[in-house]
Amino acid sequence: MSDLFRRKPIDTLIDHTAPDRLRRSLSAWHLVLLGVGAIVGTGIYTLIGVGAERAGPAVMIAFVVAGLVCAFAALAYAELATMMPASGSAYTYAYASMGELPAWIIGWALILEYTVVGSAVAVGWSGYAVGFLQSVGVDLPTALAVGPQQGGLVNLPAIAIIGVVAGLLMIGTRESATVNGWLVLIKLTALAAFIVIALLHFNIVNFDPFMPYGFPATTTIIDGEAVPRGVMSAAAITFFAFYGFDAVSTAAEETKDPGKNLSIGIIGSMLICTLIYLAVCAAAVGAMPFTEFAGSGEPLAHILRGIGYEGVASALGLAVIIGIPTVILAFMFGQSRIFFVMARDGLLPRQLAAIDKKSGAPVAMTVVTAVVCAIIAGLVPLEDIAALANAGTLAAFIATAAAVLILRRTEPNRERPFRTPLAFIVCPLAILGCLYLFASLEARTQQFFFIWMAAGLVVYFVFSRGGSVLSKQKKGA
Ligand code: ALA
Repeated sequence: MSDLFRRKPIDTLIDHTAPDRLRRSLSAWHLVLLGVGAIVGTGIYTLIGVGAERAGPAVMIAFVVAGLVCAFAALAYAELATMMPASGSAYTYAYASMGELPAWIIGWALILEYTVVGSAVAVGWSGYAVGFLQSVGVDLPTALAVGPQQGGLVNLPAIAIIGVVAGLLMIGTRESATVNGWLVLIKLTALAAFIVIALLHFNIVNFDPFMPYGFPATTTIIDGEAVPRGVMSAAAITFFAFYGFDAVSTAAEETKDPGKNLSIGIIGSMLICTLIYLAVCAAAVGAMPFTEFAGSGEPLAHILRGIGYEGVASALGLAVIIGIPTVILAFMFGQSRIFFVMARDGLLPRQLAAIDKKSGAPVAMTVVTAVVCAIIAGLVPLEDIAALANAGTLAAFIATAAAVLILRRTEPNRERPFRTPLAFIVCPLAILGCLYLFASLEARTQQFFFIWMAAGLVVYFVFSRGGSVLSKQKKGA
């Protein structure tokens, strides 16, 4: 029984003597860009519409709530990322603080998160791609533009972009800091242009009533269907817009002065995005009654067209088409990293995580991830996929905040280049916030999440427990 909670010693996670350490070349500025690059995507460009549908003009409050919870979690991430600059993110932190079974559970939740984030971003991308094509006179038939639940057959553009990104990953592409910098510039310029133009058409009347569906997550029956409503229900979805800052922690090994710069990167990118998001929300709601853009697959472009800026709408669509695949790349890359670390620990089959000698990429893993991502993206509506990704992420955030608290007790003297301020307040708040957001997700999302976790437990007890490298080492010792 005790082997289920066997912890991985932190010293083995930080191998200071490895000869092949990466060169420390990234500054705080690079890391902020890396974070913003992974954060800004389908959440602000598309899910803002879903959020508005659920919360009305109070979608702004939904963004504030989700942003606050993420800010608390980001502080916890910063402490652990600087204390254990090792791959594997929340899975690794859980292994060091709580032991193997909790680490497995978190790793399994992360696999869900990273896979479905790729699908969700691809569906968001598709909405803009279809709109852009239309604006240049190419009409994609509905059957191929959206999945079955929206009256189509399959979302072909979403599948195509996953194929392209997977192809790039298989030839060994890693996002370079320079390319990422340019893409961040494109994405932020598009949002800045949107804010300025939409504010020119600001009408305060659009904010009344501000909170038409109330604060808590509820369901309303419309045309015989239960639809989610309320600010918290919107927050449970718009939460998607904020994560990605954890990607910064994966660059720990390549960071100059990681203690200082990693925390600036994680927290700085979060803060910048939160401010931009609030400005986008205010500008969007001010420019057009929320009911008119809520259901759109490309809400920001839709608003721009509605107020007479057809050309800018197409340019914004193009910015999304060019800029957002990097979010898919970051998450699919992260997926292979998590899988790789779990396989190295003997908890997942090593063959799947094998690295191709020529490209240096985990080809088998990338193909499997891409196929699963593509099937989900081709068939399932965006809000369902995003909700599922959020469930997995919330579990990882809870584990990270808990790991900070546990390690403060079990490893009080270990060096912490960054300490979460007021950790015994901030971390419990992060945990409670995540639980509240989880409770605000739709019942079917919660059910699917628990089924996924139950399947994970079966895999652990049937396969992983016996394969665990740590347990073999301990038995051998
Ligand atoms: N935060 C990322 C996005 O919104 C996942 O696309």
